[in-house]
Amino acid sequence: MARRYFRQQVRLGFDHVFASSAPGPLLLSNQKRIQELYRQIKDCVKCSLHKTRNHFVFGEGNPEAQIMFIGEAPGRDEDLKGRPFVGRAGQLLTRMLAAIHFSREEVFIGNILKCRPPQNRDPLPEEIQLCEPHLHAQLAIIRPWLICALGRIAAQTLLKTSTPLSRLRGQLHDYQGVKLIATYHPAALLRNPQLKRGAWEDLQLLRREHDRILSEQTS
Ligand code: URA
Repeated sequence: MARRYFRQQVRLGFDHVFASSAPGPLLLSNQKRIQELYRQIKDCVKCSLHKTRNHFVFGEGNPEAQIMFIGEAPGRDEDLKGRPFVGRAGQLLTRMLAAIHFSREEVFIGNILKCRPPQNRDPLPEEIQLCEPHLHAQLAIIRPWLICALGRIAAQTLLKTSTPLSRLRGQLHDYQGVKLIATYHPAALLRNPQLKRGAWEDLQLLRREHDRILSEQTS
């Protein structure tokens, strides 16, 4: 029981507080706020997906993350484990992060929907509408410098557009004052490896933009 609780805390980013040598008040406050948000929304029954889910998938990572990766919705593996991007697509996402020298622990990984749609069907507009406030609350706490939207659904939902992903990727967008880069969903890359070159360009753009903001902050 205690182990399970501890693991959940770690997923929510609590490893950061234990690992940090000098956590400031802001860091503690972000962790407390994300923990409180989790407590408030984990039993959500706003849409019918709660009837078929095994787990509510809140998201995980660093509550102080500079980059937030946002996918579509939990799949089978994520629903079973209660963690985002842990199946095959998730393993590829972990490798994509490593390719630009980020770890899962230093970013925050979440989804537009927190519960799995049956048979992994596309999220319905009303499910997105009911679930999006949870994402907004996460973003308001984490306040990342950059958002990486993974796949068409995440990109079009966040940017409130029906423009195809092929035209959204490869450039910087603005999402409520936060820079957003859209790229292919890792599951699409598994199905269609020739998209990997474009995804690599998007990831490099993300890394460059991150480093540019970092150098601005430290100069
Ligand atoms: N696909 C997603 O969009 N999100 C996950 O968490 C897993 C697979």
